[in-house]
Amino acid sequence: MEIVHTIAEVRQHVAQARQAGKTIGFVPTMGALHVGHGALVEAASKGSDYVVVSIFVNPLQFGPSEDLERYPRNLEADAQFCAERGAHLIFAPSNKEMYPREMATSVTVDALTNTLCGVSRPGHFRGVATVVTKLFNIVQPDFAYFGQKDAQQLAVIRRMVADLNIPVQVESVPTVREADGLALSSRNAYLSPAERRAAVVLYQALQAAMARLAAGERNADALRDFLREAISREPLARIDYAEVVDAESLQPVSSVERDVLLAVAVFFGKTRLIDNMLFTM
Ligand code: PAF
Repeated sequence: MEIVHTIAEVRQHVAQARQAGKTIGFVPTMGALHVGHGALVEAASKGSDYVVVSIFVNPLQFGPSEDLERYPRNLEADAQFCAERGAHLIFAPSNKEMYPREMATSVTVDALTNTLCGVSRPGHFRGVATVVTKLFNIVQPDFAYFGQKDAQQLAVIRRMVADLNIPVQVESVPTVREADGLALSSRNAYLSPAERRAAVVLYQALQAAMARLAAGERNADALRDFLREAISREPLARIDYAEVVDAESLQPVSSVERDVLLAVAVFFGKTRLIDNMLFTM
């Protein structure tokens, strides 16, 4: 496995792989890799011949008061982690390589971004869509792998790819969880021991709401209240949102008549965690 830092080098390696008749799988990441990312790299290794992982903490997707500076970075450990899971190339560009001048162009997905994380993180999905478009243009993969944990991001990328006819097949990979149910996230590393213990409430509340749905509850307001109450019982949890939305449009629903996504974003101290579960009818 090789680590490269420039766009020219990625293009050269990918062209060689293509010449050898290989399909290209791509896993975009911001590093601080954990077993959840591992599942993406493993899916890419299974589904494609040549696997590229990008590691780039994208400043465009962080708000002014967010954790850009303290976001964990450890290229050596991340590269080792990817090599063990079958990656062939790591692309770890500098900010200057990705953004050599102020960007005059951005990609905005109008639908899907005025709810959930789009409300509390204005500009976030524009930053994600813009960098992912750039990365798709740099790597030109056949397949790209994203986690179901970031369900809104996945929906935004799928819509962008469809609307802009980007020639890549987007694959989703199920959320990986700790033994107690907490969804893996690079941000879990920020939690104090007490916050870490408290954070399991997200999984428990989502599971309990899913059980209600399975038992026939169709009143989305009742489900929302239930989710919020269940999370609020944990004193260290501060809810950003706890929503029941249509699985496709991501708009809040009043009753459950089609597939819905239960989605939560909750602060534990300064750390904001998200999680979701999909209920299919
Ligand atoms: O999910 C992430 O880690 C990031 O949003 C992504 C897709 C790598 C874009 O920076």
